[in-house]
Amino acid sequence: MGSLLKINIIIVSLTLLTACGGGSGDASLDETESTTVTSGAPETEIPEGTTTSDIPIEVSAALSLPEVMHNYSDPDLPAHFNTAIVQGFDNTPIDNVIYDELATLGRVLFYEKQLSANGMIACAGCHLQANGFSDPNQFSIGFQGVTTSRNSMGLANSKYYERGHFFWDERANTLEDQVLEPIQSVVEMGLTLEQAESNVIGQAYYPYLFEQAFGDSTVTSERMSQALSQFVRSMISYQSKYDTGVASNFINFSATENRGRDLFNSARTNCATCHVNNRNNGNEAILQPDRTFNNGLDAALVNEDNGVGDLVNTQNQNGRFKVGSLRNIELTAPYMHDGRFATLLDVVEHYNSGVQDHPNLDNRLQRNGDPIQMNLSDQQKQDLVAFMLTLTDDTFITDEKFSDPFISQ
Ligand code: HEC
Ligand code: HEC
Repeated sequence: MGSLLKINIIIVSLTLLTACGGGSGDASLDETESTTVTSGAPETEIPEGTTTSDIPIEVSAALSLPEVMHNYSDPDLPAHFNTAIVQGFDNTPIDNVIYDELATLGRVLFYEKQLSANGMIACAGCHLQANGFSDPNQFSIGFQGVTTSRNSMGLANSKYYERGHFFWDERANTLEDQVLEPIQSVVEMGLTLEQAESNVIGQAYYPYLFEQAFGDSTVTSERMSQALSQFVRSMISYQSKYDTGVASNFINFSATENRGRDLFNSARTNCATCHVNNRNNGNEAILQPDRTFNNGLDAALVNEDNGVGDLVNTQNQNGRFKVGSLRNIELTAPYMHDGRFATLLDVVEHYNSGVQDHPNLDNRLQRNGDPIQMNLSDQQKQDLVAFMLTLTDDTFITDEKFSDPFISQ
């Protein structure tokens, strides 16, 4: 685009924005605009390196997007994420590697309420950034007020779930498949894919975003799936107190946090053997295994949700559920697939004294054939909780690149 044309667009944009009484809220953008306009010399060459916005008015009127795209594709990961082992956990398919343009589109789609039948709910309605992209409600409320049958899941570090299956029962084989399911769920968003496409086509800001991402503005559900899954995969949490600890031999940890960490890694609790992907020698970066387990929540088939068992109709899979990452666990309450525990102390008490004798109870939660009794002291329970709180990542939950881009909703 020639600079003259660009400047004309900026002037038009500015006039329209002033007329609407609103701007993008980006101070540096406003500055560029006013300088250009008051100079009264639209033919002046824009100096090399100056960023002027190419974002058209129909986009900037609805969305607050940065002039320079956020970096989704190449975050500055710490050393413990850049090991061959952790890179090996990455479930990104070769035909859907992250590009900033696609993840930017994915961000808008993630916050798009038009992806629901009555325009009431976006993905973000049940996956709140402040809650590690989970939902503080035990069950989430879908577009028509009907509740989901399970607790929403935090989305941090989904990229590193090694076998790349999603949902508590792992029924989605890939993230690309998963992200289209809520749209079509009769409880969650209630659209067909055709309806979702036409709702997206109906919004003035998408032609530009699809063009940026794919080179042309054609809207397909496959493209939506690619963009949404890239955005979800870009949600990497790596800036918690725990991460500083990994990099510094945990000298930043308090005594209680260090005791909690030792307990978590001990044979007495076995927490780490299930919550860390141990297949490759005890990697601690992700705090997620790549398996489903039964952790003794219920004695037998006492409720109607048998997790993986219901899906594959195999007895020995009953009561097995995916283990989400413990990252930001402080913020993703309530806990377990049915959100039955309100606090982390309740969770610890479950493992300490409440493990039930389910036929598929994992042997790491048994002693001599009986459900484990850990006999932890109150201090030890507090220590375990203190350790889990070190996994909270304030940067992740406030990072603008994952936030709602809509100016007013
Ligand atoms: C009405 C609430 C609701 C909406 C809307 C919603 N989700 Fe979810 N999400 C959930 C619940 C509940 C689960 C767990 C469901 C299950 O396992 O059966 C879940 C699970 C997931 C998972 C699986 C995470 C994992 O580790 O396995 C991903 C990814 C996800 N949602 C992404 C999205 C995206 C993308 C959208 C929008 C297209 C979306 N969700 C819309 C409630 C919602
Ligand atoms: C046998 C493997 C196993 C062991 C050992 C184990 N867990 Fe778990 N953990 C699981 C499974 C499976 C789930 C999810 C179960 C469900 O929702 O039905 C889970 C869930 C959790 C959750 C809630 C996650 C969420 O997103 O809601 C927390 C917190 C937790 N475990 C902490 C611990 C701690 C602390 C220990 C040690 C005291 C421990 N776990 C030991 C398998 C295990």
